[in-house]
Amino acid sequence: MKAEKYKQAIEEINAILDGESNMILKMSTINCILKIHLDYYYWVGFYCVNNGELLVGPYQGTLGCLHISFDRGVCGRAARTAETQIVVDVDADSQHISCDAMTQSEIVIPVLNPNGKLIAVFDVDSTSIGSFDEIDQGYLEQIMKQHFQESTLVEVYQ
Ligand code: SME
Repeated sequence: MKAEKYKQAIEEINAILDGESNMILKMSTINCILKIHLDYYYWVGFYCVNNGELLVGPYQGTLGCLHISFDRGVCGRAARTAETQIVVDVDADSQHISCDAMTQSEIVIPVLNPNGKLIAVFDVDSTSIGSFDEIDQGYLEQIMKQHFQESTLVEVYQ
């Protein structure tokens, strides 16, 4: 059951990141531990806000697009609205940017800093349709909030 897997992953993430503040170190660890536990994760990573656009940050998976402007993609939509986006079938979403033809569904979570400013979006892609639901959303929003908004954060991008 995915809830159990998220709970286990969160326990490990919290133990590893205890006392850590560097943004890249947090992002890399979250990607790695979630991908180990959630077997439907195909691509997992962060797009970081930099000079008014999204730049690919730490990720695991096939080559990601390097730049995504705020007015494009599901990532751009999450950044503009500051709301989680769940796409059941990427082919049915005209705004989706295809970096890898294997991707069929995705979830994108906005990431805020302690001042409430958007610093990144967290993107997970799957090779099956409909992999993500409110269970993924709940746990992922909790992880992003705990490690970026409610803890000491040393930012790396502008
Ligand atoms: N899915 C994104 C593009 C990034 S990749 O999937 C790695 C989007 O439409 O914004």
